[in-house]
Amino acid sequence: MDEAEDANPAVLSPAQIAAERGPFAGMQGHLDAPYRETPPAVVERMLDLAQVGAGTRLIDLGCGDGRIVIAAARRGAVAHGIDIDPAWVAEAQSSAQGAGVAARATFAQGDMFAAALGEAEVVTLFLLGHVNRWLEGKLQRELPPGARVVSHQYGMPNWQPAATEQIGQATLYLWIKGDEPGSARPADRN
Ligand SMILES: C[S@@+](CC[C@H](N)C(=O)[O-])C[C@H]1O[C@@H](n2cnc3c(N)ncnc32)[C@H](O)[C@@H]1O
Repeated sequence: MDEAEDANPAVLSPAQIAAERGPFAGMQGHLDAPYRETPPAVVERMLDLAQVGAGTRLIDLGCGDGRIVIAAARRGAVAHGIDIDPAWVAEAQSSAQGAGVAARATFAQGDMFAAALGEAEVVTLFLLGHVNRWLEGKLQRELPPGARVVSHQYGMPNWQPAATEQIGQATLYLWIKGDEPGSARPADRN
């Protein structure tokens, strides 16, 4: 699917998302986005933008090797990563043990679209443009007001970012969930 889809601002219904994801959605071995790593300096800047500190509840959707979750836990955050690939979950758990943060950095194998986000204060993403579009409604519905969403590289077609930033090749987007259900807080209120 082409990233130019981001130009289409239509909010997708759950049925449209299910149709676009296809019959193997959520099954092990079926990736909505391929594995790629966020560079360490970009990870730290994502956490800075989202004001991640001691006690912040963070979820990384598609956590890969767990680097964002572990970096957040090193700051004292209570961080959780979800990945469809059990090998990444095992590696992330082992790395969290090695870093001495396993009590605050937890991981689970599963489909990010089935994750419960209601307790999250920060959600981090490094996926694809069309996957962000699929997630947009879920994030709007489930996140509490004031929650921050930070995406590496890809925007949200219907959300106005509170901040964008360029770090080398990486573009970062920050959104802050508005006070009203389904609203995104405009940039000039942050
Ligand atoms: C680009 S990597 C990002 C890894 C890490 N968050 C980072 O920024 O370094 C995307 C990850 O999403 C995972 N993934 C793809 N589809 C998924 C799904 N439906 N549910 C959970 N994880 C998924 C892949 O296995 C991969 O590890």
